[in-house]
Amino acid sequence: MKKIYLIFLGILILACGPQENVIKIGLVAPLTGDVKTFGESTKNGFLLAIEEANARGGINGKQIKTFIQDDKNDPTEATNAGSKLINQDGVKLIIGSVSSKCSIPLSQVCQDASAVMISPTSTNPKVTIRDDGSRKDFIFRACFIDPFQGMVAAKFALENLKAKTTAILYDVGNDYVKGLAEFYRDNFMKGGGQVLVYESYQKDDTDFSALLTKVKQANPDILYIPDYYNKVGLIAKQARQVGIKSILMGGDGWDSPEMLKIAGDAIVGGYFTNHYSPDDPRPEVQEWVKKYLAKYGSMPDALATLAYDATCLLLEAIKIANSDNPVKVKEALQGIKDFKSVSGNISLDEFGNPIKSAVILKYTKTGQEYVATVTP
Ligand code: PHE
Repeated sequence: MKKIYLIFLGILILACGPQENVIKIGLVAPLTGDVKTFGESTKNGFLLAIEEANARGGINGKQIKTFIQDDKNDPTEATNAGSKLINQDGVKLIIGSVSSKCSIPLSQVCQDASAVMISPTSTNPKVTIRDDGSRKDFIFRACFIDPFQGMVAAKFALENLKAKTTAILYDVGNDYVKGLAEFYRDNFMKGGGQVLVYESYQKDDTDFSALLTKVKQANPDILYIPDYYNKVGLIAKQARQVGIKSILMGGDGWDSPEMLKIAGDAIVGGYFTNHYSPDDPRPEVQEWVKKYLAKYGSMPDALATLAYDATCLLLEAIKIANSDNPVKVKEALQGIKDFKSVSGNISLDEFGNPIKSAVILKYTKTGQEYVATVTP
């Protein structure tokens, strides 16, 4: 009897004692603001992974508690969100953020506090490395990076669309957009293509007629706009209005259920590089699509999918480390090889980047259509 009493007391102390009996995981994403569909999808994918893990009994016998912060797609909000999670909530394992312009400053906050951060979708190289090229060793991601994405787009334009000329318009204040524009440009030229127009605009611009007049005069085969859907929708519409006939192309930032609503017919026939396609017949993808549809009533986009993958990757590392200590978790992450993910298996290289394939998708009148897969 005494023994049972002692065991009971022990469990009680463990449950209520000073040490945390939950694993805390944070999320930073743009839940409001100009790209809020990115945040909504990201949150859905994140929560689904956590719910599944908790339903299976948690990780290492502990339940997971989530802490969610909105960065509004604003770099200052992102650093504030990171500081709040780390200093007020005591969270040292963070999924986020979505856009590179938020993930780059957030990564510095996490690295300085020795907190693990995995960005599901930020593709700019500088998320995991400093300006001098050195590695931020607490920072990882679940997606490919933009030197690859730009190369895939240029190759597709030159080889599949037989393009000879291109124009490129980009937001000079957005790390992702500016970076992807450069990577695409360099690869397009290396492949023998000609860049006829290379012009920048600012984040708050809404009238692109001056730039589009130049594009119209140059009449390129491709107009490459590697921005997010809200801006691309606007530019695409104005491009068609001034009579530009070029094929429109862009990157993963085009992926949104809002794109067709904003751009209408202007974007139909446009191609973009992305991380995954729900039409991929792999069983991992088909199971995921079914599961997501049942829970949320919509198709999972790349943001939801990569948030799910990034969260599962973090949970796997916590399991391998048998601890939620961020130093042990980052060591476990660095050693992960061939982790089975919906968007393709993940092995992290020395810079915390997975090597993964890209898909090319095309906008049709009703949605997106799978065109091709490009392996690294
Ligand atoms: N890759 C984008 C960035 O780094 C974010 C993004 C990913 C947007 C996937 C849409 C879809 O900023």
